[in-house]
Amino acid sequence: MRLTVIGCGYVGLVTGACLAAAGHEVYCTDVDRKRIDQLQAGQVPIYEEHLAEVLERARAERKIFFTAEASEAIRAGEVIFICVGTPPRENGEADLSAIDRVARQIATEARSPKLVIEKSTVPALTGVQLVKALAAYSPPGGVKFSVASNPEFLREGTAVEDFFHPDRIVVGVGDGATASTLGEIYRPILERRFYCPVHAGLCPAGPPAEFLVTTINSAELIKHASNSFLALKISYANVIADLCERIGADVEEVTRAMGLDPRIGKEFLRAGLGFGGFCFPKDLQAFIHLSARVGVDFEILKAAERVNKQRIDRFFEKIHKALWVIKDKKIVVLGLAFKPDTDDIRFAPALEIIRKLLEEGAAVHATDPQAIGKAKLLFPAVCYHEDPYEALRGADAALLCTEWKAFREIDWERAGQTMARRLVIDGRDVYQRKAMQQLGFDYDSFGRP
Ligand SMILES: NC(=O)c1ccc[n+]([C@@H]2O[C@H](COP(=O)([O-])OP(=O)(O)OC[C@H]3O[C@@H](n4cnc5c(N)ncnc54)[C@H](O)[C@@H]3O)[C@@H](O)[C@H]2O)c1
Repeated sequence: MRLTVIGCGYVGLVTGACLAAAGHEVYCTDVDRKRIDQLQAGQVPIYEEHLAEVLERARAERKIFFTAEASEAIRAGEVIFICVGTPPRENGEADLSAIDRVARQIATEARSPKLVIEKSTVPALTGVQLVKALAAYSPPGGVKFSVASNPEFLREGTAVEDFFHPDRIVVGVGDGATASTLGEIYRPILERRFYCPVHAGLCPAGPPAEFLVTTINSAELIKHASNSFLALKISYANVIADLCERIGADVEEVTRAMGLDPRIGKEFLRAGLGFGGFCFPKDLQAFIHLSARVGVDFEILKAAERVNKQRIDRFFEKIHKALWVIKDKKIVVLGLAFKPDTDDIRFAPALEIIRKLLEEGAAVHATDPQAIGKAKLLFPAVCYHEDPYEALRGADAALLCTEWKAFREIDWERAGQTMARRLVIDGRDVYQRKAMQQLGFDYDSFGRP
């Protein structure tokens, strides 16, 4: 099938590349001309494992094309995936202006009927607005549009694997024909007819993904409800960590035992600096906002958000307790990305920590395997290092903000020899207190005695 992808960010590129690998012909476009130039030149503008390989294969097989001309891409595909950003507005509501702009472009540029699919995360009832917008922007006698919702559940860092091996594919549709079209698009994924770079073509046998056909409103709600629930779980674990600190229990022991109960599950129960990124914080806010708008008070989500924001304050309490004075101290931030294996720093806890450290007059040094380039644009006053050992030379304290493998494996004996003071504050509960203390470190983390 011929598909169009509008928006070549994390979701758009992974969707485009993986659907091309599944045999479709994919036309991608983006307002960011520089990004399209890079993609046309064979460069990948984001860091995501396996994505370069999938793109390269698709390009070699002439299955994926990039153009800065939206009209060209819109006319080429029978089905259009909208993958543009939906960032939060100041009041927390989702900013849907990019979706609206794209709807206008589709309505004015399409010359044949199109199925328009929301893949961006949008609040429930956006589909209804999209149908209206496409009709309102269409010229008299314009083409026919159908609309569907196909929320994306990929996680940055494992996005290619998640797209090729989803646990569910949700399609919100208004009619059977649309459900069939989406079934056709995803059939190669469901039947595993693609080359999987994650498993070098030898994917382990596993249960096939569930292909769930719902209404458009339900599909939109499923995405927000899922993300908000996971955010809630993280905040729950973080309050347990606070409680553990007060009563001398160990959050790892508690959450591990909790997670063994299949009704609870072990994922997303890690205490620490909380969640960041382009999904959880904004989706939580948008869900709270949507609920309020329709007269439902989603109090527990507000609490989850509050707890998450407090993590930074709790971290600073630990920093102050250990360092006393922050001004003029050399403090090293280990990790800038909001999670390991991505270069995405949007809403990363490390950013707020750096902002506060700079405000208090610290000499801030930072390192990250992939995200330095992006952080430099935001914080030019920070001193960046590619090598964590270089960063730690002469440091008064190290703050672990993102649990990259490279940081999990730091040889603290070696690092400690060049640090001005052996002090580590672990925002991700990665290191063991006993081992750190044996190396002569002052060590603190969340929820562990
Ligand atoms: N990043 C994730 O892990 C993830 C996972 C699931 C869902 N989502 C959702 O998917 C959507 C996209 O997220 P992302 O992380 O890929 O964002 P992103 O910022 O990486 O990408 C968005 C892209 O859209 C482009 N764009 C904006 N307006 C445009 C327009 N009018 N026409 C063409 N291109 C336009 C931007 O230039 C950018 O390249 C969001 O709604 C997000 O919530 C993200």
